[in-house]
Amino acid sequence: MPLRAVARVNVGAVERNCAVLARAAAPAALCAVVKADGYGHGAVPAARAALAGGATWLAVATAAEASALRAGGLEAPLLVLGALSPEELGVALAARADVVAWREEFVAALAAHGQRDPSARTGVHVKLDTGMGRLGTRDPAEAARVAAAVAAAPGLRLAGAMTHFATSDDDPAFAREQLARFLPWAERIRAEHGDVLLHAANSAAALGIPEARLDLVRCGIAVYGLDPFHEDPGRHGLEPALELRSYLAEVKPCAPGESAGYGRRFVARESTWLGTVPVGYADGVRRALTNDCDVLVGGRRVPLVGTVSMDNVTVDLGPDPPPRGGDVVLLGRQGEQRVLAEEWARRLGTINYEIVCGIGPRVPRAYHRDGEPAA
Ligand SMILES: Cc1ncc(COP(=O)(O)O)c(C=O)c1O
Repeated sequence: MPLRAVARVNVGAVERNCAVLARAAAPAALCAVVKADGYGHGAVPAARAALAGGATWLAVATAAEASALRAGGLEAPLLVLGALSPEELGVALAARADVVAWREEFVAALAAHGQRDPSARTGVHVKLDTGMGRLGTRDPAEAARVAAAVAAAPGLRLAGAMTHFATSDDDPAFAREQLARFLPWAERIRAEHGDVLLHAANSAAALGIPEARLDLVRCGIAVYGLDPFHEDPGRHGLEPALELRSYLAEVKPCAPGESAGYGRRFVARESTWLGTVPVGYADGVRRALTNDCDVLVGGRRVPLVGTVSMDNVTVDLGPDPPPRGGDVVLLGRQGEQRVLAEEWARRLGTINYEIVCGIGPRVPRAYHRDGEPAA
């Protein structure tokens, strides 16, 4: 019997996506962003595949995510992108992760943790906020003082100077303004302190703004074969790595006037057959897809009808239904047809990131390489 729902992740696709990104970014290095459990794909398998595909750095958002990667056996250079509380700092340092700093107090706290072994000095990346308005300081003088404090601290090493774009997907002109604010500061830091990596680009900038690639690109969404520009990832040679599959747990006739689901939001106008697919909003099939989504059955698109419930959805199979037990693809490809995360995102007024991060922990992830069991 098939599993009620499974997210099948093709590590071969992650490898190839990273090869595409690494080639595009060269001579800049590729840092694969595997935060949020690898955007829902599984952080450890995604990180392994990304490194096999040509990434040389990994990045996460939290200290706990850094620990999980080390526990999974990953030894690549690792950057924690997020803010760190005093408690989390110790966890990040124990994971031998580089960290991001923009305040002198934080550097003092880091230095207090600093290791004495010069080969184990903690790498610190100083962040200038050039327009994202989130983490980092907006004051280049403060950022320069932070860099100097890092360089002067015996247990620390000034490893990077960075910023983050707010609009590289939909307003590259503003991203270029951010880059123009970043570069003079970053180049001064490098001139003063020597070997410091300059980095700014996320996926959209790595693909769309060549001059933003600098020394390192930090790619997340594109690693997983999703389009940072919200259209078709194939335009950039990217392949979606994740498929969400389930099966027809029930197939039953539905007479005119009969309904499906809570609130009777689908009432049959003519005789048809309904299929029940045991996957619901607790698995990441958002309730707002009610009466507004297609799934793939037998290589064709059929409409999801009725309210998405916590554990089930219903689909209209039409007059000639396939038998019970057949495969259903909610995201992914079946025959010539495919449903992209970008399609769900458009229907839901959100972005593909939220679709894949929203696939719940109740859905097991199954790893393969182009259909063969992944090692
Ligand atoms: C600081 C930083 N860099 C890079 C990324 C990766 O962005 P993307 O997934 O758009 O490539 C993120 C993700 O949000 C981020 O916060």
